[in-house]
Amino acid sequence: MLTVAFTNQKGGVGKTSTVVGIASALDRRGLRVLCVDLDPQADLTQWLGVDPLAEHRNVNDVIYADTRAVAGEAIQRAGWGERIDVIASTLDLAERETDLSPGSEFRLRKALDGVDGYDVVLIDCPPSIGRLVVLGFVAATHVVVVTEPSAASLRGVDNVLRTLQVVQEHYNRQLQLAGIVINHQSRTNESALRVQEVAEVYGASVWEPYVPARAVVAAAMGASASVSDYGADGRPVAEVYEALAERVAALAETAAAQVSS
Ligand SMILES: Nc1ncnc2c1ncn2[C@@H]1O[C@H](COP(=O)(O)OP(=O)(O)O)[C@@H](O)[C@H]1O
Ligand SMILES: [Mg+2]
Repeated sequence: MLTVAFTNQKGGVGKTSTVVGIASALDRRGLRVLCVDLDPQADLTQWLGVDPLAEHRNVNDVIYADTRAVAGEAIQRAGWGERIDVIASTLDLAERETDLSPGSEFRLRKALDGVDGYDVVLIDCPPSIGRLVVLGFVAATHVVVVTEPSAASLRGVDNVLRTLQVVQEHYNRQLQLAGIVINHQSRTNESALRVQEVAEVYGASVWEPYVPARAVVAAAMGASASVSDYGADGRPVAEVYEALAERVAALAETAAAQVSS
């Protein structure tokens, strides 16, 4: 099953917004989406209308359990969308960051192995390149790096790609870089300069179109809603997420064709 980890070691660049935007667009295309919140801050969980404090199994429980397919027991319906499910996070997940016992890198992969019924699994990584990100990368088939057009965020891309190589080499040979999403594009000179820089360095890996900076994204986050619910205000951003979701859907089709052949 196509499993995409969204990542950048820097916080606030738009990882969670991109996961939610793409999940919503995939849902509207009729695809079944499982969102896995791998950030102890639980922003994805809350954006999808699920209470991180509810008495329900969560991502920390399934990683801790170290049991094949156990993730199925932690799945909840999202508060909105027709076909979006979520494995919630809580602050306790931060404890997994310090679990360095041998083999623990494989625990999320093992927990998700055997869970089916989805076209796409999207993993929202925390802003670090620590253990939780390794757990996400080992469980994933693809990585999408989300970055802002700023110098600090671009250094984050470099570090993520190094982690990707290490995980490929030691734990997950099939892991691939799917693409780089540029979020928060604005009309400033700095933004234009950094966009050009990413395009020069990473070439065809950069996904277009770029996600523009629009207040509606923060509004949708605060209201646990999709930008597509915001009519004309939301449309320019929703259309960008639809174009990015098309790329994810194409990867899902390729993955499905490989399984059936
Ligand atoms: N394209 C955008 N335009 C405006 N605000 C955005 C955009 N993308 C993200 N934001 C806001 O920026 C903040 C950080 O985004 P978020 O997706 O939570 O980043 P991360 O998951 O990388 O920490 C949030 O308040 C979010 O609403
Ligand atoms: Mg986030």
